[in-house]
Parts: sequence; structure tokens; C-alpha cells
Amino acid sequence: MTPEQAQVAREAARRRTFAIISHPDAGKTTLTEKLLLYGGVIREAGSVRGRGAAKHATSDWMAIEKERGISVSTSVLQFPFQGLCVNLLDTPGHDDFSEDTYRTLVAADCAVMLLDAAKGVEPQTIKLFKVCRMRRIPIVTFVNKMDRWGREPLELLDEIEEVLGIPATAATWPVGMGETFRGVFDRWSESLLLFDRGAGGARRVPQTVASLAADAASPLPESARRTLRAELDLLETAGYPFDQDLFLAGEVTPVFFGSAITNFGVEPFLERFVELCPPPGPRKSDGGPVPIEGPACSGFVFKIQANMNPKHRDRIAFVRVCAGRFERGMTIVHERTGKPLNVNRVMQLQSRERATVDEAFPGDIVGVWDGGQLAVGDSLYEAEPIRYEALPRFSPEHFVRVRLPDALRRKQLRKGLEQLSEEGAVQLLSDHALRDPDPILGAVGPLQFDVVRHRLRDEYGVEATFSPLPYRHARWIANPGVDLDDVARRSNVAVCLDADGKPLMLFKSDFEMSWVAKHCPELELVAAVRAGATAAAGA
Ligand code: G4P
Repeated sequence: MTPEQAQVAREAARRRTFAIISHPDAGKTTLTEKLLLYGGVIREAGSVRGRGAAKHATSDWMAIEKERGISVSTSVLQFPFQGLCVNLLDTPGHDDFSEDTYRTLVAADCAVMLLDAAKGVEPQTIKLFKVCRMRRIPIVTFVNKMDRWGREPLELLDEIEEVLGIPATAATWPVGMGETFRGVFDRWSESLLLFDRGAGGARRVPQTVASLAADAASPLPESARRTLRAELDLLETAGYPFDQDLFLAGEVTPVFFGSAITNFGVEPFLERFVELCPPPGPRKSDGGPVPIEGPACSGFVFKIQANMNPKHRDRIAFVRVCAGRFERGMTIVHERTGKPLNVNRVMQLQSRERATVDEAFPGDIVGVWDGGQLAVGDSLYEAEPIRYEALPRFSPEHFVRVRLPDALRRKQLRKGLEQLSEEGAVQLLSDHALRDPDPILGAVGPLQFDVVRHRLRDEYGVEATFSPLPYRHARWIANPGVDLDDVARRSNVAVCLDADGKPLMLFKSDFEMSWVAKHCPELELVAAVRAGATAAAGA
């Protein structure tokens, strides 16, 4: 290993790159902010939260975000913690999410599954969990809002196992709940951590390490300690033991309890989390796994953000660095076209500020200014050609047909839709037999249609109308060489082609989907495919 490669390996070993998956309102924004507080990036909480003007100034770029007061884009926050460099990939927090939310998980090495103690596992959590499962990334669970009266902790562990099918093992255990929530017992270090309420959670809370044994001087009354001892005994006998290998394979999730708003349990969670979260490892490519230390730099684009600055038509490609040292000013080759790119303008988000970066290492995310040639899923390499495993294209759940009142703008519409679909904003579909030439758009969340309509108008000068279509599910047909006319006739279901020409069926209901599965058993229907490639990725 050269000294440069050794430096890359050392830097990569310090990286922890993760995303938080949750249902809206579980407290992702609050927890993110508290992680920044404990990471020392902010001294007082309350600055990130709030959907007011201040937030727009830093993280909401697009006009639509301003109108709706939500964050459509994925930000990347980097903060130091205990000598490590933590990259938190922040995903849209609105209840309307997009494929970007899924794709972010492809760039992460680990996920934090955030649950509301009163609500348990919610629909959006399930969707995101499935994507983590598909990638087999490790998942750490944080049960939030323990300062409120919620469900019994044991019941929550059961629910995780039953609904998500992943064994859950308590890493910390709550001491009380609601008004009586005093702290957590760290089962791995066997220490009782009690917190003081204060400053409304704006500052770090003092933590007292107490003993569980009978002790007259303990700040926790004996009755509470007795209850805790009984609960811990029960966990010992009935709970799952923690297994590091199973965790790393995404087969068991350690569960932490806490309250992001009061900061209770946040610090012990973060301390353990950075130990649990694996550093970046070799990534799969067409030519086998690529070692993190190089020989040279490479990475892939997982997201494209257009119009961060409405005055300039800039697009930023978010690149996950997978190997080697990424340097500002370096020349890197765009694998799909073979063209060299000079990356002079590189940015990274630190806290909520954009900053120019000079270098980055495996696990880091950098934003590369792009003149329009990069697309989601593209690989970039410095020396030897590398093509990273293609990004999955996820099954859309909302569909519209695009109509154009002014037929003279058809060319601009096509160009706009092609570019926006390349960016990954929506999926561009067409009727397989082209009986209806008007394009169909599919999206994971309906907000994407508003984004696309705005951008068609602002950037391509096209006023298009979108009429909703009644479909709810899409499944790609994985069998090669299927007679699509025959499939459409027998199933009486709409058959379309995606941007790569891969066939997919659109269903109006679960019932319709089961009917087709039963009556056309030879069809192999899958919920996600690798973009560009011919092989299908599992459902
Ligand atoms: P999200 O990003 O996942 O959508 O959730 P967010 O952090 O915005 O939190 C949603 C609501 O839950 C907020 O209340 C927030 O204050 C509250 N919350 C977050 N963590 C905790 C917690 O640990 N305990 C309790 N009791 N509440 C928590 P809100 O009323 O919607 O907003 P706000 O008025 O507090 O700003």
C-alpha cells in the first residue's frame, strides 16, 4: 500500500455515513438537530427547526419549497464526533417523499430507524425499511418521544419483529415513561444514565451515572429501581441477544430509547451508534468489489439537484466517494460517456451551510457542479474504468398523463421530461404500443409532479397539464422476450415501457395485481429494477 493509499484507508476508517428513516413527525428534524448539538456543530438547538424564513435561507432552494415551506431536497450534514467524521444524509421530512429518499439509502452505510413511541412502526417507515433490507444495510432503531406516554417498550420490540420481520434487541432500556421518564439503562455497559430536564432541550443535558443496586443515596427511588431490575431480568430471558454479524447483515436491529426533544438518551445513542455503524467498505462494481483505498478515486452519482440557485441554471450532482482521495480540481472520467470532467467546483454541506471542499474520502458526499451531462447512477473514476452497481429504479405509486395544449412546444416538452427523468425527479413512461403518444409520468410521491410542472414551466417554457391516472402500483416484467400485446390482452392491464425500454405493468389496485399474479403465473413481476441494466433486481 502506498503512503497515499494508507492515508485514504485511515480517513475512510473514520467515516460513518448514515441516513435516518422515519415516518413524518416521528422527530427526524429534532433528532438531527440534537445530533448536531452533541456533535458540537451547533451550541444551541432551535436554529435548524422551524419552518420559517430562516430555514428557507439555508436549505430550501427551489421555488416550490418556498411556497410549501418544506424541504424537497436531500441535504448532507457532516460533523465531527469523538475523532470520527460523521456524514448524515438527510432525507425529505415531508409526508410526501420521492425516489430521492430511497436513493439516499443507496449512498448510506447504515440507517437509523426512528419510531414514535406512541405510534410504533408507521407506513413510511415500512417502505424505507424495505429498501434498507434490499440493500442489506445495518439498521439501528431509536424509539423517540419517551417523555410522552406511549406504548409499552416490550410491545414496541414485538411490533418491530412482527411488522418488519427483523428481530429487535434492546441496547438501552427506558427508566419510566412520560412524566416519569428519567433516563436509560445502557445494557451493554450496564450503567444507569439519568438526565436532568432543563433549558427545554436547547443545550446538552447533564447526565448522572447511577447504580442499579440498592443504594440509599441513589437519585432514583428504590421502587423505580426494582421495576427496572424486573424489566431487565425479563429482557435477559425473553429478549434476543445482540449479534454483531447479524446486525451488519441487516438481520437484527439494536433498539435505543430516548427523547430527542429533551435530549434524554441522545448522547448514549450517538456514542454507541458511531461504534455500531460500519465505516465504508468495498463497493460492488461490474468488475468486482472496489477497495476503498484505491488505487485511484471513484464514486457514483446518487442524486441530482437542479436550480439550487435560481439565478444560474446550475445542477449539482451528489457523488458518494467510494474509493481513493477526491480532490478539487482533479480530472475524473464520466464512465457512461468516457468524457473527462474537471471538478473545480465541489461543495459539501456542513451543518446547513454549503462550503467548498478541497478533498474528500470514501464515505463522504460531495456536490459536483454539472453542466447537464451527469445522470443519477453514473459512475466517475480517476484512472481505471469502474462502473458501480446500477442504482435501483423504484416502483412508482402515482401516475399522471402529460398533455400539452400548445403542440408547438412538443420538442421542448420531450427534452424537459427526458432531462428531468434522467435527474431522477420522475420516471418517464410510454404506452408500449404507442396507442396514446402522450407520455405518462410515474413518481414515488405525488409532490414530484408539482416539482416537474414548475420546472417545465420555468426552465423549458412549457405549460403542460397533468391528468391523474388511477394506477396505484407498477411492476416490471422481468422475463425476457415476453409478448407484451399478448400480456396486455390476457391481463387487461396497462403495459408501459420505462425510459430504458423495460416493460412494466400498471395496476389500479392490490386486487388487480393479485389477479394477474394468479392468472399469469409465468410473469415474473418485480418492484425495483436496476436502471439501465437488463437484469431485474429483486422485488
Ligand atoms: P419530523 O422531522 O420527523 O417530521 O419531525 P419533527 O422533528 O419536526 O417533530 C415532529 C413533532 O414532534 C414536533 O412537534 C416536535 O417538537 C415533536 N417531537 C420531536 N421529538 C420529540 C420528543 O422527543 N418528545 C416529544 N414530546 N415531542 C417530540 P410539533 O408540535 O409538530 O412542532 P413544534 O411546535 O414543536 O415545532
